[in-house]
Amino acid sequence: MKKWYDDLIASRNHTVIFGTTGSGKSTTLQFLINVLEEHYARYGLKPIVLDWCGEHYSKYGIKYPVISYAAVREYLPSVLAASVIGSSGIATAAAVRDLIYEVDTFSRLIECLQLHASRDIGAKAAIDRLKALMYADVLTDVELEPEYYIGVIDLSVIKDVEARRLTMALLLAVIYNFIIDKKLSNVAVFIDEAFTLYRYNLQIVIEALQAVRKYNVKLFLVFQNIPVDYADELLSHNVILHRIPEPAYVELRYRRALPGNAPKLKPGEAYVYIDERAKWVHVKIPPTELRKGSVDIKSTVPTIRVKAVPSIVPVPQQAATQSTPQQPSVKFMTADEVLKMLRKQIKRGEEELEQPIPGEDIEVEVE
Ligand SMILES: Nc1ncnc2c1ncn2[C@@H]1O[C@H](COP(=O)(O)OP(=O)(O)OP(=O)(O)O)[C@@H](O)[C@H]1O
Ligand SMILES: [Mg+2]
Repeated sequence: MKKWYDDLIASRNHTVIFGTTGSGKSTTLQFLINVLEEHYARYGLKPIVLDWCGEHYSKYGIKYPVISYAAVREYLPSVLAASVIGSSGIATAAAVRDLIYEVDTFSRLIECLQLHASRDIGAKAAIDRLKALMYADVLTDVELEPEYYIGVIDLSVIKDVEARRLTMALLLAVIYNFIIDKKLSNVAVFIDEAFTLYRYNLQIVIEALQAVRKYNVKLFLVFQNIPVDYADELLSHNVILHRIPEPAYVELRYRRALPGNAPKLKPGEAYVYIDERAKWVHVKIPPTELRKGSVDIKSTVPTIRVKAVPSIVPVPQQAATQSTPQQPSVKFMTADEVLKMLRKQIKRGEEELEQPIPGEDIEVEVE
């Protein structure tokens, strides 16, 4: 007999998985990964798993998250801009967009942004984010084959949550780019904790959902809740509904004909809606082990390190040769003195801004 997940995987549509914390979303995701891998001959789809918590496994291995410049350059302005709160997002996009078609590597991009960073808040914001990614060891100038990404990409190796979020968005852009360039097909992309992309207005996710429909690519996206602003779009795909919080459920139940009692589902129980079946079915998903604790994975790809970036502030040469280092003074300044000093600093800063920044002559032309 045909199982619900046969129809789900064979469906022409993508799948979203909703459920509160502990409702069994990750277990369901791992179950589907296992099904694809055990029955590769039947479904012909290989998994790519963006694993936020580091709990999934795959027979194709567990990979370090690495982003290569060639695969992501077109998406850098908008993805970096979306990671900046407020109006400086526009400046960030502009600063990066001016450079990306002129430079061929992250290293060069970072060098150029450094030159602008003291005067341009966009360049400063971009460089700060790229630095966070360098600390996380995820940027490379090497061109990676799409096959690198088959299997589980363990994002939990990135401890800084903002850097992890940004890496997730960029990885999605990389995969999306490979797909529309026809370098990658016959894959199922699993994004556990896709709601971490809320910061990006989910736009990148929604675009990906719509754009890859015509390739043999299935997306499986996990959310903790049904985001009301995107409910119409997300609920138009196949749905696996675990337990969800009452308010969101009540609000959407009548709008989207959700089945009764979803807030009472036990972990591992779900309502499933598959496009081709056009009805809700109540299923019990078999318990599946998740990976516990992270594994020791290091990138085998040469990545760009922060220390390799030259400082924009020239270090005075004589400082190193000074024989008597100055003792720190313990004298406190009066408020007036502080004000005077600040005014002086501001004046000096303004004068310095008039000076051309070293290396300005290599500034690339704006299109
Ligand atoms: N299919 C299942 N059968 C039996 N028990 C399950 C099943 N799925 C989940 N559970 C139980 O619920 C617990 C939480 O599951 P899981 O980690 O998959 O939830 P989650 O929704 O991903 O939670 P989180 O929000 O923490 O990521 C599991 O440790 C297990 O005890
Ligand atoms: Mg989970």
